[in-house]
Amino acid sequence: MNPYKKWSLQNHIQKFLFIILLMFIFLPKAVHAQKQAMKVVDYHQDAPDEITLEINTGAALNLTFLDDQTIRFWMDPKGVLTRKNSSFAVITETFQLDYQVNVIEHTSQYEIFTSALRVVIEKQPMQVQIFDKYQRLLLGDAFPGYTLEADGVHSHKVLRSDEHFFGLGEKSGSLDRRGKRFTMWNSDQPCYSGSTDPLYKSIPFFMSSYGYGIFLDNTYKTTFDFGKTDSNRFTFGAPDGSFVYYFMYGPTYKNILFSYTRLTGKPILPPNWAFGWAQSRGMLTNETLTRKIAEEYRKRKIPCDIIYQDIGWVDGLQNFEWRKDRYQNARKMLSDLREDGYKIIVSQDPVVSKATISQWKHADSLGYFVKDDRTDASYNMPWPWGGNAGVVDFTNPKVADWWGDLQQQVLDDGVQGFWTDMGEPAWSNMESIDRLHMKHMAGMHDEIHNVYGATWDRVVTEQFKKHNPNRRVFQMTRAAYAGLQRYTFGWSGDSGNGSEVTDGWRNLQGQIPLGLSAGLGLIPFWTTDISGYCGEITDYEAFSELYIRWLQFGIFNPLSRAHHEGDNAVEPWLFGDKVEQFARKAIELKYTLHPYLYTMARQSYDFGVPIMRPLFLDYPSDETTYTINDSFMWGDNFLVAPVVKEGQQTRQVYLPKGRWYEYPFSEGIIYKGGQTIEIPVTLGTIPMFVKAGSIIPKMPVMPYIGAEPNAPLIFEVFPDTKEARFELYEDDGVSLGYQKEQYRRTTVRCTPKEGFMELTISPEELGNYRPSEPRNYWIRIHLDTKPSKVYLNDQRLSRKKLTVSDFEKPGAKSAYTYDKDTHELWVCIPDQQHTLQQLKIDY
Ligand code: NOJ
Repeated sequence: MNPYKKWSLQNHIQKFLFIILLMFIFLPKAVHAQKQAMKVVDYHQDAPDEITLEINTGAALNLTFLDDQTIRFWMDPKGVLTRKNSSFAVITETFQLDYQVNVIEHTSQYEIFTSALRVVIEKQPMQVQIFDKYQRLLLGDAFPGYTLEADGVHSHKVLRSDEHFFGLGEKSGSLDRRGKRFTMWNSDQPCYSGSTDPLYKSIPFFMSSYGYGIFLDNTYKTTFDFGKTDSNRFTFGAPDGSFVYYFMYGPTYKNILFSYTRLTGKPILPPNWAFGWAQSRGMLTNETLTRKIAEEYRKRKIPCDIIYQDIGWVDGLQNFEWRKDRYQNARKMLSDLREDGYKIIVSQDPVVSKATISQWKHADSLGYFVKDDRTDASYNMPWPWGGNAGVVDFTNPKVADWWGDLQQQVLDDGVQGFWTDMGEPAWSNMESIDRLHMKHMAGMHDEIHNVYGATWDRVVTEQFKKHNPNRRVFQMTRAAYAGLQRYTFGWSGDSGNGSEVTDGWRNLQGQIPLGLSAGLGLIPFWTTDISGYCGEITDYEAFSELYIRWLQFGIFNPLSRAHHEGDNAVEPWLFGDKVEQFARKAIELKYTLHPYLYTMARQSYDFGVPIMRPLFLDYPSDETTYTINDSFMWGDNFLVAPVVKEGQQTRQVYLPKGRWYEYPFSEGIIYKGGQTIEIPVTLGTIPMFVKAGSIIPKMPVMPYIGAEPNAPLIFEVFPDTKEARFELYEDDGVSLGYQKEQYRRTTVRCTPKEGFMELTISPEELGNYRPSEPRNYWIRIHLDTKPSKVYLNDQRLSRKKLTVSDFEKPGAKSAYTYDKDTHELWVCIPDQQHTLQQLKIDY
């Protein structure tokens, strides 16, 4: 035996034991030290609604109450509570003035009371817990509550086994974010999949099923981990900048959304025509094709309002001049198309190409471009078209008027709005680290990147307003940050399957939760690229099923735009007669429901509630709804379950509690809610249901919104055992009057009574707006029992066979008809909408 070896073995054993001993002595201390890291050493109440805690590490935590249920938290590891830039998203921190915040200091904790919340702050270690007035824990710090790590500050919260999270705006994946991790870094992601993250927009706002919301107002590359790393806690963190987040108590999701709307602003209302159908294509960039498409829609009697022109319309990026070789006479084209009811939207990119050299030199000499911090020269940005470019620095206040004058050139030509593309700015994804050398006037790129698009959108909208007073802006954007809703609408960028276009089913499926989540991030006015953006369409027949299914989902997107890459045409008539017919039917449906859709749009403006919304928003106590990613509520009354699987012949649909009429109600089927039903579907079917007790305002189909002024208004009634009610919203559709009470509201009620039914239409409530022009009302009630008599304002109405043409012109005679096959009662009420109308229907 080798004695040396023996000694060495002994030595190793001793060493091992020694290490174990050291671990025993020091490790608990190390953990202990970390756990003890934050102790509150002092506190001061700087204002009645503001408390600052001083922490032994030199950090500070400030709590400011915006009202009795909204708290701003601000953690600064160095104790310096000052911000470099004021918030890009928040518009006010004063929600309410007359509320009480009471602080009580105990030996080991502070207690803060408002009428809605009790906040407990343990001093050692520092831990904040927020309870509701029933002492239910809403949000509590995990242990430790905050850490400062190499990648910045992180806040850790207790994650309960039954807690679910929704939000973060337009992100991929299922609606429930639990168990997943996300990063905020606006990224250009062509042909993204259902799990790609990050995407184009950064909206660091989410809601918990425990009745609160969090908005982390930090523009850096923030991260959110909803229990992926540790199933007992969730964490959000920011690498730099002020660590400011807002706690918003609901407890309902709708209340949380309302608080977030108060904090970051209301979503501006688009012009009414924006809710019409829109056609686009990557190479739709010339006059001949634009005119041809416009003509074809009218010829084929498919309603259409908007035609987009992609970036190839512009002569030089971004001089806002028409390419002469593609547009023979742009002004004439615009005025001709306008006569025919079309609105033209053009794309703009946020750069000036070096190929547009005189413009580039001009902007460069004025310092309008983002700089390179290594050279202090304009940053040389590679751009997918037009060669390298200067990136316009929209944080430089001098840029606004220059850009505003440029874009006004085409607005003066007759263009109706913009499509702001590539505002990430594109080609500055995470891997493009050279972009971090970009220096904007307001800060370095790591801080500005996520707000670059929103800053551009602000300039576009403010300049639009300046040059076109009292006109609603149309602007649809790809890249954004929280607060975008004050300036712009959204679309979901380049989805679809780039390798094989017919394999895009999963991409279509992914667009539903993505769009619903966009709505929760205050992008109610949104569209997918109908057909998906990516993929060459070589076989139109093979692609036709996916196309029509995408379209049947897309008509419920408030902005409904068909768009596809390159020269891949996606007009509805290219996919065969059957698809054309189904597409027409679907688009017509969107147009007939326009009065309903527009009323719901107003609701989004007032309260931040999206039109296309997850079921749980309306049925929060039904946890099954948390798992539904393939259907949604469309406004207050409809549930839509589009078919998004290939070759489907039946569709399962979960209906929350209540009674649901199949829509249209042609087969007379009513389902009981609280169950999953399975219904047969054909290529033309869009599974859709309307709640019992709904009144749906509609209009006749027309080629474009507003084509038939004073057209009859239809109220379709789906009676229930209790009162049905709808408050119709109307305004002029194009001005900013809606922000100044210039609108009309008409309330329709339908009440079943013993032996009769009563329907009333209130006189219009006008705010400071003008009354409507004479028009007819058509009432359509789904009624099992044939009425014996019908009275209008106590006058008995005659029963006669009515045709559509009876009601088209104002001044028709009041009358009614009952169709015993379809069980429908139709009543026509002409021209008296300024006084109360009362219908009595005797059975
Ligand atoms: C990228 C956009 O996402 C896409 O919709 C557009 O067609 C191209 N840019 C070209 O402008």
